Amino acid sequence: MIKRQRIKELLKSTDFNTEVTVMGWVKTFRNNQFIALNDGSCMGNIQVVVDFNNTDENLLKRITTGAAIKATGILVESLGKGQSVEIKATAVEILGDSDPEKFPLQPKKHSLEFLREIAHLRFRTNTFNAVFKVRHALAFAIHQFYNERGFVYMHTPVITASDAEGAGEMFKVTTLDFDNTPRTEDGVVDFKEDFFGRATNLTVSGQLEGELAAMAFGHIYTFGPTFRAENSNTTRHLAEFWMIEPEVAFADLENNMELAEDMMKYVISYAKENCKEELEFLNNRLAEEEKQKPQNERSEFTLLEKLDFCLANDFQRLTYTEAIDILKASKPNQKKQFKYLIDSWGADLQSEHERYLVEKHFKRPVILTDYPKDIKSFYMRLNDDNKTVAAMDILFPGIGEMIGGSQREERMDVLKQRMDEMGVPQEELWWYLDTRRFGSAPHAGFGLGFERLVLFVTGMTNIRDVIAFPRFPKSAEF
Ligand code: 4AD
Ligand code: MG
Repeated sequence: MIKRQRIKELLKSTDFNTEVTVMGWVKTFRNNQFIALNDGSCMGNIQVVVDFNNTDENLLKRITTGAAIKATGILVESLGKGQSVEIKATAVEILGDSDPEKFPLQPKKHSLEFLREIAHLRFRTNTFNAVFKVRHALAFAIHQFYNERGFVYMHTPVITASDAEGAGEMFKVTTLDFDNTPRTEDGVVDFKEDFFGRATNLTVSGQLEGELAAMAFGHIYTFGPTFRAENSNTTRHLAEFWMIEPEVAFADLENNMELAEDMMKYVISYAKENCKEELEFLNNRLAEEEKQKPQNERSEFTLLEKLDFCLANDFQRLTYTEAIDILKASKPNQKKQFKYLIDSWGADLQSEHERYLVEKHFKRPVILTDYPKDIKSFYMRLNDDNKTVAAMDILFPGIGEMIGGSQREERMDVLKQRMDEMGVPQEELWWYLDTRRFGSAPHAGFGLGFERLVLFVTGMTNIRDVIAFPRFPKSAEF
């Protein structure tokens, strides 16, 4: 059995003059003597000092950036700057060579664009070590938050036949032979011959199934991958992303907003407490990036200040109608600087409008409620004005839409009418309608885009840098 110590523990250790064994990847090797070794347990490296006079020259040559090695030696207090401990090696073994001529990750600063092309190796950089540690902590915190509140974690299906969420374009799932597609007499593809005997897709949301479970358990949440085939090549969209969707019975829009705000604050403060080193690093990384920008484009806040501000302040709540009034009167609207000008009630908000409200007007997270029914999904509860629905979107600085949710329409007659109006086939969703037939109750829920949360907390600017292997139009490498 392999025995080794983790570098994270050793860097904090004061057990000097004991023998230790570490395994990791060489970051740098200086003067044939000093190895900076990293095992991924933390961003920091441990210095392994090689006695080059008594080490085989061939072995020394194989200690190259990227190589995996095992080093055994004595833990000593370090005299060098920048570290408190180091290992005086008594034995070094090469576990896996790395040809320095070919290894793409040289010990220098690489651009994020370049690192995206070598996403299989970018985990070994400090930036991605930090980003994925924060991502892990946020995922853990989400489970902890819901677990503490008695929510049941549901795994909703990835393959679905329901085509009704209306959230976006879907990816088809099929085993039909494209070169010899079965067709009906009318010449259309005959999905009866397909694997499931009907047309199926990758899910865009677990909500509808989540609602079924909420109508039995009271409180549930999902946390799984969702897929959208929309052709959006932006820094905020992925074709495959992870979504958290809580659904609560006996809850209205107010309860929903409170749950969402509590969750956001809980997970952000969890990350702050548990990822100090990583957030410190990302804070400095962002500060460096900001310095490259012209003065007037720089953010007023550092990353850590932004997180603190979000924790310390209530999210601003206002209705869509109030937002439209603010936007109509706004400078960029008056001066025709918006790409999409706001001239009337009913317009869908574009990200330029959302960002204006959050970043310029309120300068804090905003919860927008009560949108026009025509621009929202069929399942959102119709308000008494017959014009708006009990929807909510939570908008975040630098991100735009972070969360989308609503109180659900629990009244069968209203729901059916909304489905007809929006062209959602009732036959297909017979099981969804059944919850309104048998013990219907007020309920509400929302969806949080996990990568957008990770973007906000890490201060990264492109969503492709906070998921391991991003999927987007024309790209599914790795
Ligand atoms: O607003 P959306 O489409 O809402 C739903 O899917 C509802 N069924 C949620 C619910 O009520 N249970 O998506 C929810 C969130 C968005 O606010 C956004 O953060 C994220 O999912 N999202 C995306 N993230 C990355 N890439 C994309 N293409 C995304 N589309 C939505
Ligand atoms: Mg939305």
